[in-house]
Amino acid sequence: MNAEDLEKKRAAYLNFLKKQPKGFTYYDASTAKKPIEKVIPIAAQPSTDQTKSTQLDSLNCKYTSCQACPLGSQGRTQVVFGKGSAEATLMFVGEGPGRDEDAQGAPFVGRSGKLLTQIIEAMGLPRERVYISNVVKCRPPDNRTPLAAESSTCKDLLLLKEIDIVQPKIICTLGATATKALLGDDIKITASRGVFVEWRGLLVLPTYHPAYLLRNPTEKRTVWEDMKKIMAKLEELQ
Ligand code: URA
Repeated sequence: MNAEDLEKKRAAYLNFLKKQPKGFTYYDASTAKKPIEKVIPIAAQPSTDQTKSTQLDSLNCKYTSCQACPLGSQGRTQVVFGKGSAEATLMFVGEGPGRDEDAQGAPFVGRSGKLLTQIIEAMGLPRERVYISNVVKCRPPDNRTPLAAESSTCKDLLLLKEIDIVQPKIICTLGATATKALLGDDIKITASRGVFVEWRGLLVLPTYHPAYLLRNPTEKRTVWEDMKKIMAKLEELQ
């Protein structure tokens, strides 16, 4: 790069710095007469999105070899963390990884996941715009339902923290395990399905798990009614 080009780049950069919001002090060494009082480097003012995804990354980083519950040593291939937009207003929570998720390291990528993706896309949302997680992050042997102690350990270590970081407006719990993990063991999915519940400053709407829909396709219509409620509520909360 010649000196002229370098000067153009420098001038353009200073111009960019001058346009930064209040609180950001730029420093042009060629014109500065007195020492700068305050310099806030751009890196110290990351966008909220970066902050949230960085927070999620550092949370997950701590648990890549988690042995906090028996699922850590019962044949899982890897820990399957939540995935999606850290800025999502809508979060889906399922039960736990199955065989495909355990192999690929991402939630809801098997048959149930394909159906969930279709549902999300039918809502007019690309899957990447929502956040998808599970109560337990390790595959239970033979896809058994996670034990209450496993759910509760993993919920405290990861799920509740993911929710605190992402701060969605609505969480859609998929099936009984996720619904009980958040709303309490006494709750019945059949009674609570399709009804918003206020929980920790956000709304939870329980619905059927996609695996249940694969076995009972006529219930897809019911779940679609629930998704319409979510879409309307998100619109209202904008
Ligand atoms: N079922 C779940 O509950 N979660 C997954 O990630 C896949 C299937």
